[in-house]
Order: sequence, then structure tokens, then C-alpha cells
Amino acid sequence: MNNKDKAIGVFDSGLGGISVLKELAKSMPNEKFIYFGDSANAPYGIKTKEEITERCIEIIEFFLKKGVKAVVIACNTATSAAANVLREKYNHIPIIGMEPALKVAAEGQKDDTIVVMATPLTLKEQKFNDLMSRYNDDNTIIKMPCPELVNIVENDLLDDEVVVENQIKEYYKNLDIEAIDSVVLGCTHFVFYKEYMEKILNNSISIVDGNLGTTNHLKEVLKERNELQSEYKEGSIDIYNSSTDERFIKLSNKLLNK
Ligand code: DGL
Repeated sequence: MNNKDKAIGVFDSGLGGISVLKELAKSMPNEKFIYFGDSANAPYGIKTKEEITERCIEIIEFFLKKGVKAVVIACNTATSAAANVLREKYNHIPIIGMEPALKVAAEGQKDDTIVVMATPLTLKEQKFNDLMSRYNDDNTIIKMPCPELVNIVENDLLDDEVVVENQIKEYYKNLDIEAIDSVVLGCTHFVFYKEYMEKILNNSISIVDGNLGTTNHLKEVLKERNELQSEYKEGSIDIYNSSTDERFIKLSNKLLNK
């Protein structure tokens, strides 16, 4: 099979990566996407690096059996835990990872206060701390671990305004909201909360995520490899989940069409 015709594998610990898949499919409607949500093993954010790496290997093996041309790790946590190992092990295909979009929020800024919402593992890992050290001389960067926001999505509680708003307010209760310039949604599950964040926080705060950057990066890589699908082909999306509970596929489709 011509490489152009092959699918793109996209995965996350669960349903957060659907927010990335949406952006990918919007930007590359002619591509075939295979999404794998590892909801049976979510959340990753409180697991060890080794446990996450093991899961990622199993998922990439699944994609390779399907014959993918590229893999997107639609998960900041899995990227910080395992991307290097995965790129070394599977060096014949591009593996696109994600990191909290701190660069977008902080580049060229001085004296800004930037909140980075992410999983405990992402915030603890070397990868994020190296990124942070590039910007925290000029700015105040606040790390905010938010594991509960992952569970709210996985448990289909995203539409429960009381649960969501109370949780977000709890995170921000000791911060001076007026002093915040931007908020980085550094976990793909959190992108689904953008409207809530806009409602709860000050209007002047910019809320950024890495989904568009990841999408553009994948597009560039495929273009360079001459593997971008032609505009005459019809795209598709197939969704798989490690959980045998059917509600995860239903919930994936609901989030995809939101
Ligand atoms: N959606 C993932 C991320 O971007 C991980 C969430 C989790 O499983 O803890 O970080």
C-alpha cells in the first residue's frame, strides 16, 4: 500500500486525545485516523513512567498491526514519560508528541503570571521542568496539577456544571485571578473545559492549548515525507478503546461531535 493511503494512529490515556483528533480531522479531512483511548488504564497522570511506557508500547504495536504511517501521542503525560523511548524503538515512523504550550504563552513576555494546568506526572517530569526554566526568569509560572479534571471527562460528567465549576474554583481559590495573564491547558482532557475556564476566569486571561501546534507539526512532517493524503480521497475516523465498557466508544463519539 502507498504510504499516503495509510492511516494515522492517535492515542491517549483515555478520551482527552479526542480533542486533538478533532483538530487533526478538521485540518486533514482526507486522512484516515485510528484513535485508541486507553480508558481501562486511565488516568496516566498518577502512574509511573515505566507503567506508562509499557502501555504506550502495547498501543503502538496495535497501530503497527493496522499499518499506520505516523503516530500522534495525543497526551502530554505519555509524551513526557515515554516519547524518547518510543522514538528510539520505532524509528521507522514519525511519532509526534505533545507538551504544555508554555512557549505559546510565555515567548516574548515579561513579568507575566502564567498558570500551567497539567497532570502531576507532566509537571514533575524533567521535560516540563527544562521547558519551564527557559521562561521563569522573566515570568511567574505556577504549576497546577489537576488530576480530577481527567476523571470528570472519563466519567461523562463534563456537562455537570456544578461538579465542574466547583472543581475549577477549588484549584483557583488561593490565587489572585486578577494577576493571571494566561492559562496553559497542558493536558488534552482539559481542552474540553475551555468554555468553563472562560466563564470562571477573567476575560482578559488568554487560555492556550497545544492542539493546533501538534496538528500543524504533523502536517509539516507528512508533507516533508510526501505522505500527506491527496484531497480527492475520503477521510475516516475509527475509534477503539481498551475498556470493554461500550460507554467509552459512545462517549468518544459524543466528545468528537461536541
Ligand atoms: N490526557 C492526558 C494528558 O494530556 C493524560 C491524562 C491522564 O490520564 O492523566 O496529559
